[in-house]
Amino acid sequence: MAVWAFVPAAGSGVRMGVMTPKQYLMLHNRPLLWWTLDRLSCQPEVTGVMVGISADDSHWSDLKWHSGKMIGTVNGGDDRARTVLNGVEKLLEVGESEDWVLVHDAVRPCVTNNDISRLIAEVVASECRGGLLGAPIADTIKQVSKHRVRTTVDRSQLWRALTPQLFPLGLLHQALSNAIKEGVAITDEASAVERVGFPPLMVEGRSDNIKITHLGDLQLAEVILASQESVDRSEEDR
Ligand code: C5P
Repeated sequence: MAVWAFVPAAGSGVRMGVMTPKQYLMLHNRPLLWWTLDRLSCQPEVTGVMVGISADDSHWSDLKWHSGKMIGTVNGGDDRARTVLNGVEKLLEVGESEDWVLVHDAVRPCVTNNDISRLIAEVVASECRGGLLGAPIADTIKQVSKHRVRTTVDRSQLWRALTPQLFPLGLLHQALSNAIKEGVAITDEASAVERVGFPPLMVEGRSDNIKITHLGDLQLAEVILASQESVDRSEEDR
């Protein structure tokens, strides 16, 4: 069973309001993308890693990330779904339609190898044609319009969709192509696969697998990475 990892890293980071794309902002003296790629390449089940980068990316060559698992880059698209579709098309040139692809946001450097292993094991053992890491919503959720609360939403069935998300290459290719052709806005792989009739498996992951969206998230990610390292060290010492 081959499991490929694809990292969409072609965003411009406009929401963060800085000139450097957020995947290249520094985290513990290394670019954020370096940490993300390091986690994926250390994952024993992963066969190879491919990265989607923007055609005008001037930072990639300075990243200095080396791994025997790196199989190449692909040009990003106008949105995340198109970047992932480009990656899936390229991976289908080296892999088979039934191979798995783990799609993981470049801007989630705190994902743990343990969570990735559980996602792979639980999806493969299930009858589902794919799955994703997620976390149940802990806060009370309000529906708001023009800064007025319209209603309080029942959160009992609501989860946050995280990444990685794991699907067979062929199915993901069909689902993303279909959504793009029909002009449907897709913000994760699972929603494309749901549309073509395959409910993904939701696997509970750690809620500290945060997506770096605002500058303040970088400090939080530094604390999370440091705490994960100290837990790893104390487990090694035991
Ligand atoms: O913009 P957002 O935070 O949703 O981006 C999630 C991930 O998708 C990031 O890793 C970003 O680099 C990537 N992305 C991409 N191609 C785009 C837009 C976003 O690879 N056109």
